[in-house]
Amino acid sequence: MQFDKPATTNPIDQLKVVGKPVHRIDGELKTTGRAMYAYEWHDPGLRYAYGYPVGSAFAKGQITSIDSAAAKKAPGVLGVVTTLDVGDLQKGKLNTAKLFGGSEIQHYHQAVAVVVAETFEQARAAAALIRVDYVREKGAFDLKAAMTNAETPDPSTEPESSAGDFRAAFAAAPVAIDAEYTTPDQSHAMMEPHASIAAWNGDEVTVWTSSQMIDWWRSDLAITLGMDKEKVHLMSPFIGGGFGGKLFLRVDAVLAAFAAKAIGRPVKVALPRPMISNNTTHRPATVQRIRIGAERDGKITAIAHESWSGDLRGGGPETAVMQTRLLYAGENRMTAMKLATLDLPEGNAMRAPGEAPGLMALEIAVDEMAEKLGMDPIEFRIKNDTQVDPENPERPFSHRDLIGCLKLGAEQFGWDQRARPATRREGNWMIGMGVAAAFRNNLVMPSGARVRLDQDGVVTVETDMTDIGTGSYTIIAQTAAEMMGVGVDKVAVQLGDSRFPVSAGSGGQFGANSATSGVYAACVKLRDAVASKLGFNSADVVFENGEVRSGNRAVALAEAAGHGGLVGEDTIEWGDLTETHQQSTFGGHFVEVGVDIATGETRIRRMLAVCAAGRILNPITARSQVIGAMTMGAGGALSEELAVDTRHGFFVNHDLAGYEVPVHADIPRQQVIFMDETDPYSSPMKAKGVGELGLCGVSAAIANAIYNATGVRVRDYPITLDKLI
Ligand code: MOS
Repeated sequence: MQFDKPATTNPIDQLKVVGKPVHRIDGELKTTGRAMYAYEWHDPGLRYAYGYPVGSAFAKGQITSIDSAAAKKAPGVLGVVTTLDVGDLQKGKLNTAKLFGGSEIQHYHQAVAVVVAETFEQARAAAALIRVDYVREKGAFDLKAAMTNAETPDPSTEPESSAGDFRAAFAAAPVAIDAEYTTPDQSHAMMEPHASIAAWNGDEVTVWTSSQMIDWWRSDLAITLGMDKEKVHLMSPFIGGGFGGKLFLRVDAVLAAFAAKAIGRPVKVALPRPMISNNTTHRPATVQRIRIGAERDGKITAIAHESWSGDLRGGGPETAVMQTRLLYAGENRMTAMKLATLDLPEGNAMRAPGEAPGLMALEIAVDEMAEKLGMDPIEFRIKNDTQVDPENPERPFSHRDLIGCLKLGAEQFGWDQRARPATRREGNWMIGMGVAAAFRNNLVMPSGARVRLDQDGVVTVETDMTDIGTGSYTIIAQTAAEMMGVGVDKVAVQLGDSRFPVSAGSGGQFGANSATSGVYAACVKLRDAVASKLGFNSADVVFENGEVRSGNRAVALAEAAGHGGLVGEDTIEWGDLTETHQQSTFGGHFVEVGVDIATGETRIRRMLAVCAAGRILNPITARSQVIGAMTMGAGGALSEELAVDTRHGFFVNHDLAGYEVPVHADIPRQQVIFMDETDPYSSPMKAKGVGELGLCGVSAAIANAIYNATGVRVRDYPITLDKLI
């Protein structure tokens, strides 16, 4: 189904099931431990062996030899596969770094071997006996040092934009700021490590893994293994978090496939936690310069945002300037990204790539500008709202209610209680409030599904969509239930299997809206099949209460399905509505902090997010997405930073002891409000993404609250206590 006009009234609008607070249909499986994650898949008929990966202990150079003789003789060892054994492999299309194969090392902890044994412990012990000889080369590991030779990245990344005459307008502006902000390298730090089990059957391989994007992985695994895609079967029914770290094929799947082939048995491989940060991808550090000029009344006349980041050769920039092209009005503007070549592990997408670090800078700058103007920061944002793309004024936003979010948030949060900087005290605590706008683009992706109606009246949805903890199972069940006129209990949802129609997958907050739209399209086909079998006119047919009705005839769905059942299959495809209309999501983040006057320790006291993101398909799962994102924003503001060893080129704090994500005690009461809205331009569901919106702006709201509490402006994340004292 091609979606190329604004959505009109359709069965989803009944909102009998969609939009309702349905609890997760997979919740019981998860809370009782019966949901089988990648490493847990167990077929009693198979004898699994365990593979333990070995990562490179240097960042750049060539391996000259690998001695695995001692490892092979160790107890329980079944085999060793090294990167030299497999030779040069073709690299998949989506990773920048090579995952495995050949002698070249591009980054620290790149996989160099996998040791396979009867038990995990035996494999781990033997892995320590592998000896690698190499010639190390000098690498570039320090963004600040490499920035001076940064270049404009590939045009496909749209590295630059401009409108009007920024330089002249900025020079003439009566009120202006020019400031530099830095964000560190960050790690996805998802709960479930990357893990895979591979089992061969002749020349076909089945890989049970932890993937956000089944079809991307399947294609790249086939390329890497040099085989026909049709002979690769991928399964990923449950995923313990991804945040972008599982968008692209990872080496555990490649190692498991080679190891299983080598020993002729199925092999399980998980990346040990200390290997994840350096073996996989991360959110790259940025240096950002922001200049804003305004009239004395607060109207922005000039705005510029430049960002520097680094990546391996062939990689791309962190797109931190993107939101600045769209968020505020102003006739004279420019944005630019510069990319330095670094030999650190691959930089790539982490939750809300671009906007998340971009808003960490922009929304402090806006706070600084409001202060300089003597304006309330909410009033300043409202004054500079725009209903059109400011770089292309003929393109309106499909729907934009940033003002509504900020006004409602201010009222609900008690913004009028905010005091002047460093004036509010409660005992040892300096108290402050901060606000930031939230902004994230609404992306859409083609998405397919197959829906079957059986003779028992059960509707089964099959799609290779994934549920990374987001609630995909539940919102897909709600969609099919609404479309087919049955309860959620009459819908079975099967996800994460490459035998099913190719879906949007989970990423870029496009998953919920795109995948349910694919299910909608398949259900339209199934409704037509039911109507046509019964000889009903599909224009006046009603699906309700497990029945299908037309005029005065009513037939139970089970009966309509008959012995063979009926099937509908389709893919939602997108016309040019994303070209003619700017589709984005908006919000306001409000935070109250206390900062200890003696130690500089920051404690978040209250958080509120108000989100305008189209129709909310399920307020429970959407709220969970947003509070999780707010928690991630708290980590970004206060603690998360991959520390770079700039001599040897690796992330030092590469485990969850050293990479500090928030714990329960760090997180106070969180409130989430969804604006009651629909976006007919976004899809037949009239929904948009919300999972990444919840992160965008949070860290800046915390930074602004810290400033309001202390009068100290920190422009360098994370805002640890040493920076306040
Ligand atoms: Mo998201 S970074 O696209 O999983």
